[in-house]
Amino acid sequence: MTEIKVDDDGGDTMTCILHNDHIFPVFNTRAITGLTSVKIREDDVLILGYPKSGNHWLWELTRQVLRGRVVEDDVVMNEMMMECAPEEKYADLPSPRILASNAPLSKLSPAIIQKKPKMITIYRNPKDVMASYYPFMTKLPFMKYTGKWENFVKPCALGKFCHGSWIDHVLSWEKVKKTYPEWPILTVFYEDLKEDPVEQLRRLCSFLDVKRSDEFLEEVVNICSFSKMKDIKSHSAVFRKGEVGDWKNCFTVAQSEWFDQLYQEKMSDCPLQFRYTL
Ligand code: A3P
Repeated sequence: MTEIKVDDDGGDTMTCILHNDHIFPVFNTRAITGLTSVKIREDDVLILGYPKSGNHWLWELTRQVLRGRVVEDDVVMNEMMMECAPEEKYADLPSPRILASNAPLSKLSPAIIQKKPKMITIYRNPKDVMASYYPFMTKLPFMKYTGKWENFVKPCALGKFCHGSWIDHVLSWEKVKKTYPEWPILTVFYEDLKEDPVEQLRRLCSFLDVKRSDEFLEEVVNICSFSKMKDIKSHSAVFRKGEVGDWKNCFTVAQSEWFDQLYQEKMSDCPLQFRYTL
């Protein structure tokens, strides 16, 4: 494990951790080195999305749905995020545990492949992801990043910063799903969750094999609304705007076109359709 300084296009640096050929945020070094030895249970549920894709939201929705009654508290996903919390923090918790990570499957414990717990990936359109990632990185003091947006976009899209590129992350999941169609993997799109959360919760219930009434699901949607979570949860830096299309306030036309070109080059074989507005 090495602490590294990653340059943006303006020469400002972001402090990151390089471990196992992967770039991590400077979270918890013990958790990061222990990532590949986490003991996974068959009945764990894993939330595995690229950063800023709505992981906290999906984690909370999953927690409420599995519990079967709504609970208002300040518990946040980070306590169950395998690169943030050392294993002893969640090792003895009762099943089903809802563990999370922003890292790709190849950087996580091989026990996942042996035990095949239920995995949920959340995808969000990459422009909103980057528009969310930039302010988040500048707010985390331990990342020591004070660069400008215009110097952030390209290196971020090209995978120089934490967890590599969104494109590689999404393609790696698409490859896993195609290679192992029998694995229990559910894909949820952030934009679909915004548009019709109850419908997405029905999908989630069916995947998790739990029966919940629509009335209960409405309650879950309410307790997990952006404004509620921003109020209740302690990690306010995560809960910024919670919208689809905020990228338009950040990307210049040139930046947007540059990214579209990159997307065309790298994602042309990928049938996924991302929505940039609702
Ligand atoms: P913005 O920065 O665009 O607001 P992650 O949890 O993967 O880090 O993703 C964080 C993004 O999800 C942030 O996006 C955050 O506001 C948004 N988010 C978190 N909770 C949400 C909720 N309840 N509803 C909608 N968006 C939410």
